Amino acid sequence: MLVLGIETSCDETGVALYDTDHGLLAHALHTQIAMHGEYGGVVPELASRDHIRRVIPLARKVLAESGKPLEEVDGIAYTMGPGLAGALLVGASFGASLGFALGKPAIGVHHLEGHLLSPLLSKPSPDFPFVALLVSGGHTQLIRVDGVGRYRLLGDTLDDAAGEAFDKTAKLLGLGYPGGAALSRLAGRGNPSRFHLPRPMLNSPDFDFSFSGLKTAALTLVRNQAEDEETRADIARAFQDAIVDVLVKKSVKALRQCGLERLVVAGGVSANSELRKRLDAEGIEVYYPDLQYCTDNGAMIALAGAMRYQMGAVPEKGFGVRARWDLIAS
Ligand SMILES: Nc1ncnc2c1ncn2[C@@H]1O[C@H](COP(=O)(O)OP(=O)(O)OP(=O)(O)O)[C@@H](O)[C@H]1O
Ligand SMILES: [Mg+2]
Repeated sequence: MLVLGIETSCDETGVALYDTDHGLLAHALHTQIAMHGEYGGVVPELASRDHIRRVIPLARKVLAESGKPLEEVDGIAYTMGPGLAGALLVGASFGASLGFALGKPAIGVHHLEGHLLSPLLSKPSPDFPFVALLVSGGHTQLIRVDGVGRYRLLGDTLDDAAGEAFDKTAKLLGLGYPGGAALSRLAGRGNPSRFHLPRPMLNSPDFDFSFSGLKTAALTLVRNQAEDEETRADIARAFQDAIVDVLVKKSVKALRQCGLERLVVAGGVSANSELRKRLDAEGIEVYYPDLQYCTDNGAMIALAGAMRYQMGAVPEKGFGVRARWDLIAS
């Protein structure tokens, strides 16, 4: 089955073609980071307008690269939520109307299910069951995954998501938006023993997280100390070490409690090299998405859609979007 995936939930337009027999055939992405960078964050109205401009050319590019004519597409999968309502509507209306025109089904998929399943695009790919650490710009969750749609929430962030904490701290350090990757590069030059920041909720009996205090602690350091490049790098290092420490220890604890061996890490922060290094040193089985599929992309939506179709997903009549939508009902 050939599934065309469309992602437009935030500031990346992603399109991909996934073949259930042969895997990913082609994918294309346009990031709006440069456009929003000027404003220090995502401007929703600009995001929607840009998705409109990009989605059709990207779909044409993906079809051309895969060598498949549009008529051979068996189904469409678009991100239905969560995300920015106007941005989601672009992908949903394009996906649903393309399906209608072709006489093919179109389904809405959950953006976080896309992230969660993205490591399955890599080889070797993890078997179920596993514990997933979902660390993105808007989410930090530990989830027990027994199969597609069989999710149990183990822990969640009580305030800022890990990616959000990276971005806010990066902004304090003058690194622009979104600054997670830039902060990580700066931290690479930092001295790990100069500053020590708190590890929030490290020893709490649950699997929840809290990162807003850490960001505030970093702010105090920046205000009092950050005059030179070396100090900024040392603060970045202390911040990254603290956040990575909490993520690693809680993930390992969750794995032990579930009696499982496999950990899957997904979402933008899973690109962080320090996080990968620390998890790899834990002596557990860990899977990550390829770097290009850590942040938002169409490939993960095409894959999640294909897996949903294989489970017999029924397309809804018309289309809708869900700007707020929990993956796991609490
Ligand atoms: N190397 C890195 N180290 C730390 N953070 C990173 C790195 N690369 C990307 N990020 C962070 O990943 C986040 C973006 O990830 P992603 O695209 O998965 O999030 P999102 O789509 O905005 O949020 P959500 O998926 O929860 O709706 C940003 O916060 C960014 O700073
Ligand atoms: Mg995302």
